Amino acid sequence: MITLKNVILRRSAKVLLNGASVTINPGEKVGLVGRNGAGKSTLFALFNGTLHEDGGDFSVPPSWRLAQVAQNMPETDESATDFVVGGDTRLVELREALALAEAGHAADPDDPDIGMALAHAYTDLHDAGEHDAVPRAQALILGLGFKVQELDQPVNSFSGGWRMRLQLARALMCPSDLLLLDEPTNHLDLDALVWLEAWLQKYAGTMIVISHDREFLDAVTDVTLHIAHEQLTRYGGNYSAFETLRAQQLELQQAAFSKQQDKIAHLQKFIDRFKAKASKAKQAQSRVKALERMEKVAPLLAEADFSFEFKEPGNIPNPMLTISAASFGYLQDDGPPRTILSGVNRSVLAGQRIGILGANGQGKSTLVKTIAREMRALAGTVTEGKGLNIGYFAQQELDVLRPQDTPLEHMVRMARELGPNARERTGEQDLRGFLGSFNFSGDMVKQAVGTMSGGEKARLVLAMMVWQRPNLLLLDEPTNHLDLATREALAVALNEFEGTLMLVSHDRALLRSVCDEFWLVGRGRVSDFDGDLDDYQRYLLDEAKRVREEARLATREAENAAIPAAPPASVAPQDRQQRSGQARPLKRELAQVDEQLAAAGAEKTALEARLSAPLPAPEIAETGRRLKALNEEIGRLEERWLALSDQIEALAAG
Ligand SMILES: Nc1ncnc2c1ncn2[C@@H]1O[C@H](COP(=O)(O)OP(=O)(O)OP(=O)(O)O)[C@@H](O)[C@H]1O
Ligand SMILES: [Mg+2]
Repeated sequence: MITLKNVILRRSAKVLLNGASVTINPGEKVGLVGRNGAGKSTLFALFNGTLHEDGGDFSVPPSWRLAQVAQNMPETDESATDFVVGGDTRLVELREALALAEAGHAADPDDPDIGMALAHAYTDLHDAGEHDAVPRAQALILGLGFKVQELDQPVNSFSGGWRMRLQLARALMCPSDLLLLDEPTNHLDLDALVWLEAWLQKYAGTMIVISHDREFLDAVTDVTLHIAHEQLTRYGGNYSAFETLRAQQLELQQAAFSKQQDKIAHLQKFIDRFKAKASKAKQAQSRVKALERMEKVAPLLAEADFSFEFKEPGNIPNPMLTISAASFGYLQDDGPPRTILSGVNRSVLAGQRIGILGANGQGKSTLVKTIAREMRALAGTVTEGKGLNIGYFAQQELDVLRPQDTPLEHMVRMARELGPNARERTGEQDLRGFLGSFNFSGDMVKQAVGTMSGGEKARLVLAMMVWQRPNLLLLDEPTNHLDLATREALAVALNEFEGTLMLVSHDRALLRSVCDEFWLVGRGRVSDFDGDLDDYQRYLLDEAKRVREEARLATREAENAAIPAAPPASVAPQDRQQRSGQARPLKRELAQVDEQLAAAGAEKTALEARLSAPLPAPEIAETGRRLKALNEEIGRLEERWLALSDQIEALAAG
């Protein structure tokens, strides 16, 4: 059981918890929610012991084994599989113990104690799951969206987002009683997200997860811990249940507040009226006291206090951008450039609002980065309209922030670098005011960016982008890290934006609300996507199946190449009869598999039809999961079918 009693928690001068008390029971699945900067990640630091309470009592059972996702970018050339296996810390310890025992045994083979220690080391290692560590690790890696051929590739050959996925797999690999996940979905696409949900639902220990993703929280949590106004409040139920309860509470609070306001007004009137009269002065005085005593019910202002807008862009070129006969990809130090997308012919027109879809790793970010001039096209041309002013927002942009500098210093530097801007005033006071409109209060404009929370950094980058008055917005996963209120503010601002917009996001709500056409990046091409987001979800599932099939074909080809052809030995006539006898059970099974395949196919069609109708979120998730399982089953059946028909054919040909 985790308990907090009257805990006070501070970061520098900022008080994050002031007398917070809460209990988390073993086995509970807790969603930790709250605004950006409320102190969620700081609370994790308390849980994992990197930070201590500044007051009150905090305790976690000392015997609990803790698993959490390391936040650093791994820089090793270990293979993905080994790296993830290494997440099982107990296994690693026991392997070391075994190595020691083996060394001891080699030095002194006759010492019975060392012999005993060696035997123990072997059993311990076996009990810790050494025998299936590799397949367990690989199941995690594949579940998080990696391809079979990537299992043995070195960690540092993957891009940042994929390396963070490996960090996540490593944490899941570690046997634990307490699992801490801080925004685990930020680097995932829909496929991997659905897989992670299923995995977490089976996790047996106590789990605390920080997330701003409502659908994800609903799928994996049954208790919600809300951090706000320096307090922690526990709600039984998932995020939706919490929202409902909280809305009711706020309503009650609002009602109490209005009632109190009425009363205050009444008292005030009394005081005003009687103050003038000497005879009533005393009564007035007591009323003044009553007014002072009256405890103010906190007004709700703080709840939905954030909104911003993109400034009207000056001139908008049309077309904004023309891409012709272009190839996009990476230059490599050793070897030829790696082309990711080719034959790209596209124009971006003024006022278009384009959602860019595509499974992870297909080249969405490559496309966006090339348009943002972060990368050069490998071939062809990207022609920009005159006066094009790109506002680029991406995950890695957060790294561009200088940790030592404050938000104000960032703004001042940017204003200086961009030179005098006719429409914006660049005095320090103006910049402070501008930051204020993005919820950076007086103190925060002077706080080092390195100490700010993820959401605060993202908000700063957003503010810097808005200040530049772009006419083309290129947004690559802009809502990662942002809390729900800020996401909504962003959606509203994007809807009102008059320029052109290109958006990559796994936030379906955002895509739906701001885009009206979609491009699909996949199989090395960029094409129009005819359909809506439900069609897209189906497309993703089919695509996953296609990739799996390709992998299977590749392995089978490799096997065929490795295994010599059937021996050409001459076959005696009586063998033929024997063979037809052998073929009978095979044919029977083949017929069965045929039937199962037909049934699975029918269910698949039905599920897909269901997904095309508007469904409540939990049902989409559930149907998606079933569809995924079904596709896997179909894959297995097809494989069996092929194996059987191969065998039957071989017998017949024999
Ligand atoms: N070393 C520090 N000095 C001053 N303030 C700090 C320091 N570290 C954190 N803070 C502040 O403490 C607050 C809580 O930070 P924390 O990272 O816990 O927020 P969070 O709830 O995880 O937010 P997010 O949803 O954005 O991740 C933030 O306002 C942050 O700016
Ligand atoms: Mg955080």
